[in-house]
Amino acid sequence: MAAIIQVKPITDVPADRSASAAPRDPVFFQNPYAFYAERHATSPAFFWEEYGHWCFADFKSVSALLRDKRFGREILHVASREEIGLPQPKPHVADFDLTEKFSLLNLEPPAHTRLRTLVNRAFVSRQVEQLRPRLRQLANEIIDGFEGEDSVDLITAFAAPLPAIIIAEMIGLPAESAPQLLNWSNRMVTMYMFGVTHETELDANQASADFMAYLRSIIAERRKAPREDLLTHMLTAEQGGERLSDEEVMSTAILLLNAGHEATVHTTGNGVKSILESGLDPKTLFSTPEQTEATVEECLRFDAPLHLFTRYALMDTEVDGIALRKGDVVGLMLGAANRDPSRFANADRFDPFRTDGANVSFGAGIHFCIGAPLARIELQEAMSMLFERLPKLRLAETPRYNDVYHFHGLETLKVRWD
Ligand code: HEM
Repeated sequence: MAAIIQVKPITDVPADRSASAAPRDPVFFQNPYAFYAERHATSPAFFWEEYGHWCFADFKSVSALLRDKRFGREILHVASREEIGLPQPKPHVADFDLTEKFSLLNLEPPAHTRLRTLVNRAFVSRQVEQLRPRLRQLANEIIDGFEGEDSVDLITAFAAPLPAIIIAEMIGLPAESAPQLLNWSNRMVTMYMFGVTHETELDANQASADFMAYLRSIIAERRKAPREDLLTHMLTAEQGGERLSDEEVMSTAILLLNAGHEATVHTTGNGVKSILESGLDPKTLFSTPEQTEATVEECLRFDAPLHLFTRYALMDTEVDGIALRKGDVVGLMLGAANRDPSRFANADRFDPFRTDGANVSFGAGIHFCIGAPLARIELQEAMSMLFERLPKLRLAETPRYNDVYHFHGLETLKVRWD
C-alpha cells in the first residue's frame, strides 16, 4: 500500500511528451527546478519514464486534478486487485499497512468524510490560533539552548524539535517522547521513497509495530482517565451515533505525527535557506503580521517541501489528450506547479512582496492539508522569532538536500550569527 505505483505498463507515448530524470540522481534532487523549467517550456503534461506514469507540472492542471472526482488516492473501493493488477499485500509489512489502512490520506468518501469531520475540529484556524503564545515560548527556549554556540545545524537544533513537540502536545503525548516519535516516524516515511529495499521495509514495519504498541498503552490510559487532548477527543467524539475504533484513532495519530512534522521541518529549513540566499533584509520580511504571512507563503511557494503526489484514475478517462485507463496513476507535481511561469511573474525569483502569490504546497480538494492552519502559524512564529533573535544569521556552508526527491528538504543547514 505504501507508495501508489503504476502497475499496467503504459505504451505508445509520443516521444515529444516523454521525459527522463532519475529521482535519486544528486544533480536532479539537488535542483529539480531545472527539469521543471524544461517541462514548462516544452510539455508540462508528460510521461515520466523513471516512474512509468503521466505527470502534470503546470499550476492549472495540478490545481484542477487535485479537485477532480475522477481521481482518487485509493482504488480498491472501485476495483479489485486482480482487475488493475495490483500485487497482494506483503506479509512482512503488515504492521505498516495496518497504520495506513485507516489513514485519511488513503481513504475516499464516504469513509474519508466521516473520519475527517471527526478530526477536523481540532485543526480549524480558530483553535490553532490559541497556540501562538506556546509556539513563541517554545521557539525562544530552543534558541536559548543553542545561542551560546558558534554555529549549529538549524535542522536538528531548531526546525525539527518545534513541530514535533507541538503535535505531540496536541495529541496528548508527553513532549519528552518527541525524539522517539521522530525516530519511528522517520523510519516509517522511508516507505515512500523511490526504490525501497527489503531491509527498509522490515525496519519501517518494526517502527510501525513499536509505534502502535506505544499508542495502544496510551489509549488504554486515556480510556480510564480522559484528558483535554486530541486523543481523548478522538476516542469520545461521535458522528451520527458512531465512534472511531482504536485502529482508526491509532492510524490518525500516526498520520498526524508523520505529516505534522516532516513537511513543517523541511519548510522551515528551505525557507530560511531561501531568505538567506536572497540577500533580502529579514527585518523587512517580518516587519508586520501581514508581511510575515506573505513571507511564509512565498517560502512555501518557492521551495515546497513535498514535490510529488499521485492519484489513481477511478475510471477510463482522458486529460489533456492523454487517454487514461482505470487504475492508471497520475503524478501531480506541487513543487513544479508553484514555479509555473504561466501563473507567476518571475516564477524562479524568491519575492515575498509579490502580488500574484499563491501555491499548491498544501494540496487542494478533499485531501487539502488538514494541518495547514497549524503549519502556517508554526512557520510564522518560528521564522519571525529566529530572525528577531539572531538578526545576523547567515549560511556557514552550502546546504544540501536529502536523497528523497519528493520530500524536498535539507540534510543539514549549518548557520552562524556572530
Ligand atoms: C508546511 C507544512 C505542511 C505541508 C506543506 C503539508 C502538505 C500536505 C499536502 C500536500 C497534503 C495533501 C496530499 C494529497 O493531496 O495527496 C497534506 C495532507 C495532510 N496533512 Fe499536511 N502538510 C503540512 C503540515 C501538516 C501538519 C502540521 C499536519 C497536522 C498536524 C498535517 C496533516 C495532514 C493530514 C492529516 C493530511 C491528510 C488530509 C486528508 O487526506 O484529508 N500536515 N498535507
